[in-house]
Amino acid sequence: TRTPVNVTVTGAAGQIGYALLFRIASGHLLGADVPVKLRLLEIPQAVKAAEGTAMELDDCAFPLLQGIDIADDPNVAFDGANIALLVGARPRTKGMERGDLLEANGGIFKPQGKAINDHAADDIKVLVVGNPANTNARIAQAAAPDVPIERFTAMTRLDHNRAVTQLAKKTGVSVSDVKKLTIWGNHSATQYPDIFHAEVAGKNAAEAVNDEAWLADTFIPTVAKRGAAIIEARGASSAASAANAAIDHVHTWVNGTAAGDWTSMGIPSDGSYGVPEGIISSFPVTTKDGKYEIVQGLEINDFSRQRIDASVAELVEEREAVKGLGLI
Ligand code: NAI
Repeated sequence: TRTPVNVTVTGAAGQIGYALLFRIASGHLLGADVPVKLRLLEIPQAVKAAEGTAMELDDCAFPLLQGIDIADDPNVAFDGANIALLVGARPRTKGMERGDLLEANGGIFKPQGKAINDHAADDIKVLVVGNPANTNARIAQAAAPDVPIERFTAMTRLDHNRAVTQLAKKTGVSVSDVKKLTIWGNHSATQYPDIFHAEVAGKNAAEAVNDEAWLADTFIPTVAKRGAAIIEARGASSAASAANAAIDHVHTWVNGTAAGDWTSMGIPSDGSYGVPEGIISSFPVTTKDGKYEIVQGLEINDFSRQRIDASVAELVEEREAVKGLGLI
């Protein structure tokens, strides 16, 4: 029998946590033959709710679930962690400035990064879901100098999946016929979903669409503002789709991208495509054997360049802001 993989989930009692934990325990995160141990991290006031979720997990009798521990101390929750899903974050509340938001999240992600540095397993892989995800990931990474920086990633897979479906609908193909779509930049309204290298049923997507006005005025804003549209319709922010994207992100990272396709991940920039080092930005990546690589050599046209630069500029601003706050 295989040794179980330790998966730590923060914000476990939240709405994404509720949609996420059952899929991890049923084998969707790592594979149907990989046993898992869950470590749930919550703030003290929410530990009781997390215990309730743990009771329900028990009641599913998942064959792969080898144990559940609940903690309110990151040093305990990340001890021996192989995979860390950082979901819990401080939401922006009314009247809160961006600086306040970054500072409040720094108070969460800095100690969590340090706890990962000091206690996680050597092969730790980190996915930050909690917003502002890219910059929170940057803060955690800075607090973990002993962990290779490429292990800290931020989630843009929900944006990627949203874009795949919008493009499939527009071109009348099924989602599995959409390949090589890219989300560039920040998981925010400035993100850039790029279809110029994408394929629909084997044809270039931009040529198949052949409608730059749709691209600029419908596709990009629909993808970038989808989170707000969900809140408007549902009265609550995306949860099941966000959990699904977290599952996809880690599953792809661990198990690899399919030949002839790639995915989007927020990762520490290595300077590729003119994106400066020192920020965590979304790129097209292929994955294999638990490692990812940025897809190189794509031609970036002016339409794309402008939009990538704008989103990257926002990330650089956020990085400067957290630097100013002493968080990195
Ligand atoms: P939620 O408010 O339902 O749950 C958050 C949970 O985190 C709460 O149970 C809270 O007690 C917990 N928490 C707060 N501080 C914590 C800490 N220091 N340690 C451990 N747990 C802590 O929120 P929801 O809907 O589950 O969303 C979670 C985050 O995911 C939000 O920041 C949201 O903006 C973000 N998100 C990101 C997406 C992406 O595509 N990257 C998509 C959707 C949501």
